[in-house]
Amino acid sequence: MSDHNAVNMTDMNYDKDRPKAANPVKIEDLSLRDGHQSLFATRGRTEDMIPVAEMMDEVGFWAIETWGGATFDTMHRFLNEDPWERIRTLKRYIKKTPFSMLLRAQNLVGYRNYADDLAKAFVERAAANGMDVFRTFDALNDYRNFETVVPAIKAAGMHFQGCICYTMTEPRMGGDVYNIDYFIKKAKDLEAMGADTICIKDMAGLLAPYDAYAIVKALKENVKAPIHLHSHFTSGMSSMTHLKAIEAGVDIIDTCMSPYAYRTSHPAIEPLVMTLLGTDRDTGFDIHHLAEINEIFEKQILPKYRHLLNDTKMSIIDINVLLHQTPGGMLSNLVNQLREMDALDKIDEVYAELPRVRKDLGQIPLVTPTSQIVGIQTVNNVLFDDDKERYKMITGQVKDLCYGLYGKTAVPIDAEVQKKALKGYKRGEEPITCRPAEVLEPELAKAQEEIKGLAVDLDDEILYAIYPVTGKRFLKWKYGKEDVPEEVKPKSLEQAKAELELIAKARAGELIEKPSKDTPAKGEAARKFNVFVDDEYYEVEVDEPGGAPMVTYAAPAATATPQAAAPAPAAPAPAAAPAAKPAPAAAPAEPVPAPAAVEGTPMLAPMPGMIVSYDKKEGDSVSEGETVLILEAMKMENALAAPCAGVVKGIKYESGDSVGKGDVLCVIG
Ligand code: CO
Repeated sequence: MSDHNAVNMTDMNYDKDRPKAANPVKIEDLSLRDGHQSLFATRGRTEDMIPVAEMMDEVGFWAIETWGGATFDTMHRFLNEDPWERIRTLKRYIKKTPFSMLLRAQNLVGYRNYADDLAKAFVERAAANGMDVFRTFDALNDYRNFETVVPAIKAAGMHFQGCICYTMTEPRMGGDVYNIDYFIKKAKDLEAMGADTICIKDMAGLLAPYDAYAIVKALKENVKAPIHLHSHFTSGMSSMTHLKAIEAGVDIIDTCMSPYAYRTSHPAIEPLVMTLLGTDRDTGFDIHHLAEINEIFEKQILPKYRHLLNDTKMSIIDINVLLHQTPGGMLSNLVNQLREMDALDKIDEVYAELPRVRKDLGQIPLVTPTSQIVGIQTVNNVLFDDDKERYKMITGQVKDLCYGLYGKTAVPIDAEVQKKALKGYKRGEEPITCRPAEVLEPELAKAQEEIKGLAVDLDDEILYAIYPVTGKRFLKWKYGKEDVPEEVKPKSLEQAKAELELIAKARAGELIEKPSKDTPAKGEAARKFNVFVDDEYYEVEVDEPGGAPMVTYAAPAATATPQAAAPAPAAPAPAAAPAAKPAPAAAPAEPVPAPAAVEGTPMLAPMPGMIVSYDKKEGDSVSEGETVLILEAMKMENALAAPCAGVVKGIKYESGDSVGKGDVLCVIG
């Protein structure tokens, strides 16, 4: 490349007059999807993309990623936004640059394999709404899971980009499973399926620069389709990885605008533009134009999202990724989950358990949804297993994986774990070996029937089919059947700034007097209360000193006035901390019927989550170990078993309700 570095840059305006490179690296921008998914919990709102949309269209990107991945889920669940509408809205501003989406093959934009009829309809509707490039991956690299979506992409006349999920079992590429031959074979498989481009999808930032050089070179020699590299920054290697891939002839690189770059996201575009300036791979981008876009992001948009950035550590890289092969999103999920369960001190145990669970489950790559499946199961093992028994609480998704519902794993699943997972499994105890969707009944018509009267068009119906509980709730908001809760509404720049000021004040100790006494250790029985004083909100934890944890399953927390919220007479001065908004899971329980009516053993939520469904209803009898309800936590479904035999009573939640850890889900007596 140095031979081509001879262009004299000193005498010209290099933004405009520099000669076009012989073979410019093409760039896909990820700021509006993977960027905010990686750094800001996928909370980016469409209204915050519009101010830069037209300028982004002028950069010259090969494509802009605008959709897919976790956006579909978070938009309707947390932002009260119709995911389909985002594509149509952005298309009005971004007219030249193709849109790209991340499609989880037969998992679409969800966390399980959907039936063929739904998968086909989803792709058709995504294309009709304006999607151009379908970056398609399967978490297990089992391309039988492409067999339905790819013909649908092709039939719609759109671009099929096939992904190879990059993963490994050794510190560097090699070993028995994920070696160079594996990647060449996968690329050839994709080419045979008609891939317009082939993407190496390095979701965890594991791809080392010299391994990238070797892979890109090998793929360029073995397949004709252009090679695209998607490499997260998480471990700190990917800027170097990009450069080595470019030297090896990679065609397209993924980057973010600098405010959305680095950490668990991707390298920024601006340094790459400068790095390649005047070479035969020059991007041709105008760096001043990029700077103008960044200015808008920094000043007008990102103050609203700052609080979502996990900046608790000095380091912007995570070497745990190199040690544990854990994708960035998975790491933050694990930390959040442990924090919600007050078990953050167990993180090292989780790191130690994770490779064991992964091996038990067939050395699968760690990417959505397998990263979640392995991650949540690992946390369950750490929290609930004991010396006598492993895999005490197996999630529904691990059972599905053991059955073969996600596809073929790279190596066989541990026979003992598989047997335990499939004991009493609803589809059968014998795992399948065929293409997973072959055992799935068509599901779209059934969903359409269920959501009749609420859904207005096919897009609504598909949303409901993929996300029955939260999708239905969203459709009620959308069509005014239910009030939109405050926490899903957008906040203005002014509100965001006021909150940041409040936090700064609190940190400086100016908001409230600190207790002069030594702070005692927080007990297990501490309960959280929301306290509202005029327009200020405090989250207060109340702990009775010396009191043994007592299960008060029917204690009604009355209205959240300060008086009623602080019942413990001898409570130490509570350290009040301002919070941006009430955490729904920590809200006090609704008042419940008189306690005398419900006697028996309470079934407590082992973790915060959302009720999917009760398998048993009021008055049903259950035997010990029988499933009473399904609780969704961190997007995984957990079947909760009866702690003893008896009659189910005192059900006070319904499908869609959020519960906190320790909430009484029902009583068995
Ligand atoms: Co990514």
